[in-house]
Amino acid sequence: MSKLMFAALGSALLLSSCTMMQSSSALKFDDTKYTAGSVTVDGKTYKYRAYTVVYVTNPVDTKYQSMNIYVPEEYFDGQGSGKYTAQTAPIFLPNQVGGYLPAEPGNMTRSGMGGGPAPTGGTAPTGGTATTGATTGATVPSGTAPASTSAIQVALSRGYVVAAPGARGRTLKTEKGEYYGKAPAAIVDLKAAVAYLHFNDARMPGNAGKIISNGTSAGGALSALLGASGDNPDYLPYLKALGAAPASTSVYAVSSYCPITNLDHADAAYEWQFNGVNNFQTMQFSRDASGQMVRSMVNGTLPSDQIAVSNTLKPQFTTYLNSLNLKNSDQPLTLDASGNGSFKAFVASWMAQSAQKALDSGTDLSKATYLTIQNGKVTAVDFDAYALAVGRQKTPTAFDGLSLNTGENQLFGTSTADNQHFTVFGKANSKVSGTLADPQTVKLMNPLNYIATSGTTTAQHWRIRHGTADKDTSLAIPTILATKLQNSGYDVDFWMPWNQGHGGDYDLSSLFDWADSVSTKS
Ligand code: DHB
Repeated sequence: MSKLMFAALGSALLLSSCTMMQSSSALKFDDTKYTAGSVTVDGKTYKYRAYTVVYVTNPVDTKYQSMNIYVPEEYFDGQGSGKYTAQTAPIFLPNQVGGYLPAEPGNMTRSGMGGGPAPTGGTAPTGGTATTGATTGATVPSGTAPASTSAIQVALSRGYVVAAPGARGRTLKTEKGEYYGKAPAAIVDLKAAVAYLHFNDARMPGNAGKIISNGTSAGGALSALLGASGDNPDYLPYLKALGAAPASTSVYAVSSYCPITNLDHADAAYEWQFNGVNNFQTMQFSRDASGQMVRSMVNGTLPSDQIAVSNTLKPQFTTYLNSLNLKNSDQPLTLDASGNGSFKAFVASWMAQSAQKALDSGTDLSKATYLTIQNGKVTAVDFDAYALAVGRQKTPTAFDGLSLNTGENQLFGTSTADNQHFTVFGKANSKVSGTLADPQTVKLMNPLNYIATSGTTTAQHWRIRHGTADKDTSLAIPTILATKLQNSGYDVDFWMPWNQGHGGDYDLSSLFDWADSVSTKS
């Protein structure tokens, strides 16, 4: 190489590193730009400093690509708060995503998906009629009353630094009609928010080595994906394009409520659980004359073509499940061609444990006739009878709608196509000649592709909850996630709360007891 070329290359490098430095320096946390606030939790008032930051240098939409940060006031006076100091405080990272819709940053007054109001920014989901296909992806969590105190408030009161990021979602569209919140936008945004926290670790109170992610439903899925795929280079091109901070995207621990995850296998899992349950009750969304969104429950019976789809998908789940080589201690978890076997017994055993705990605390389980109870002990669960009793909520195909009519179809759209299929089965059986999402994009959305893989920093500690009355996805889905993590050597606290419907943040004191206990481990 000539001297001249070398000099030119050198200055180009210098230039690009200057540009890098300049762009990254725009992401430096400025602790002087705050508003002071206070929040009362359990009768006690806690002071904090509140910051709002844009977490990337080339944002597409700052309404969503920003993050509210709350720091206990004590950390600016050299004092401790709760169990922690400015150096040791874990950073609680609740995402607000529901229905894979756009989510604004969480704040002190609006709580997360789990206990809060409807997801923001989304339009009423499309499609999802009772007779033509699956329900939509966007539901307001049912079965749980809004928590009076939000996760953000409790976290602050217990001495956590709170970093509540927004994220883009599936409905976003420019004025020119280009979509900009399709997969993998939401996970890329959450990773950029995490990178911001690592990048600013020395400038901010809180320990970026102890980030604890939290989310419910689609947000639970993204929380799990964030934890599974930390630092994996697959996401780097997207992060670079946004001007994310050049720092780790790993989190320390994950809380995930009813994750609507493993989407590319969720249709088969749903039919594994609900095949033969031919009546359904589904929620339908529409708008009334004044434009208000109205929800109504619709009852129906599956038509024969959907029963045929269910019959085809169910054995596909056996093939998938067996390919995972999951184990309970040393015992292989498998299924036979009819969907029976040790994995089914394993799922039922989680239900049995949950029922036992409910029984021990005085709950009347006499209506749960799918349980065998002898002398105060739950000795058996008839899983097929349970599926019949809990009821089918989604019609086949539950996620990759054959008429491109689900929220998940919309998640996997492109900048120009609002909806796409994301499974080979969906594409092959499309009723609307739908196109198939790029396999790499589908890969980027599934945590199972990343757990314990090389080049990845998977979170060490996991808390996964899925209620026994939640039929938004099969119980197999959270069970697979928890078992895969546990088999890969991670610390997993998995539980199916008895009779709990689709929702999250319903057990905040237990959540933060867990968060405290994992945070104080090294
Ligand atoms: C949510 C619920 C669903 O049933 C679904 O398919 C996707 C997302 C949610 O509540 O976030």
